[in-house]
Amino acid sequence: MEKAYGGQVVIITGCTTGGIGNALARAFAAEGCTVVATSRSVRSMSDLEQDSRFFLQELDVRSEESVQHALSTVLERFGQIDVLVNNAGVQCVGPVAEVPLSAFQSTFDTNLFGPIRLIQAVVPHMASRRKGTIVNVGSVTALSPGPWTGAYTASKAAVHSLTDSLRFELKPFGIDVITVVPGAIVSNIGNSALAGYDKMPEWKLYKPFEAAIRYRANLSQRPDSTPTQVFAKKTVEAILKKNPPPWFCYGRFSTMMSIMYHMPLFLRDLAFRKLMKS
Ligand SMILES: NC(=O)c1ccc[n+]([C@@H]2O[C@H](COP(=O)([O-])OP(=O)(O)OC[C@H]3O[C@@H](n4cnc5c(N)ncnc54)[C@H](OP(=O)(O)O)[C@@H]3O)[C@@H](O)[C@H]2O)c1
Repeated sequence: MEKAYGGQVVIITGCTTGGIGNALARAFAAEGCTVVATSRSVRSMSDLEQDSRFFLQELDVRSEESVQHALSTVLERFGQIDVLVNNAGVQCVGPVAEVPLSAFQSTFDTNLFGPIRLIQAVVPHMASRRKGTIVNVGSVTALSPGPWTGAYTASKAAVHSLTDSLRFELKPFGIDVITVVPGAIVSNIGNSALAGYDKMPEWKLYKPFEAAIRYRANLSQRPDSTPTQVFAKKTVEAILKKNPPPWFCYGRFSTMMSIMYHMPLFLRDLAFRKLMKS
């Protein structure tokens, strides 16, 4: 069994080059952690391949078998998992009334059931050591949901809610639970949202809103979005604190969305109508 240098073994889902998971992997490694970087294909993390600080592992969060295989490989190799970061996620753009049910199901399967699969697989190990940290990545969109991303936002709202329950339930076992809530962060999410959008059926009622819907798909990817590395460094600093915060919200729009969360609905709706041209 290989010794984990730096003490902590961190496993992160969705570490494709250019995304938040990849930057988190680098930031944990910079803090001396042993990082198990996972994604659906090892090829998508080839930038980490030649660096011995990373152990690369294929893991599809939608497959129970893949989750079990990855976790048992990691436990065989390192004997411990200290931090699990449920980062993998997919956008889903389109009007709630017309997005196919299969797209809703697949979004929830990745964004909500994916983290649940990993949590259920890792908790027995963490509980037996009476230590560990579970990080679930949510989104500021769930603080103030607007139009055109109902499936995604609902899945992230469920992640927030689930994480709150989990925090109480895992406290007796010495496991910390953190909701990480990114604002608009530079990543591949805009491109993959557009690729997913192009596979949607032609809208029946919503053709006139096509431009506004497309605009929403890439809204997080702006010139002033928070650089991935900046977000990752701040997030890892928060996670590795002796007493980590239960909620860590950071990045472009995070303050605005937190304020909107507390606004009367009529004001929030007004703001969204202006922003989203809806
Ligand atoms: N960027 C933002 O502005 C922003 C804002 C709020 C929240 N977030 C959240 O941050 C997290 C990271 O997203 P990102 O912005 O870095 O987007 P990204 O660059 O598209 O990364 C998403 C990652 O999730 C992976 N993934 C998708 N389905 C998977 C599956 N079934 N199994 C395993 N991995 C899977 C992707 O792998 P593939 O490359 O194989 O598709 C990719 O590695 C997500 O949970 C996202 O919802 C992002």
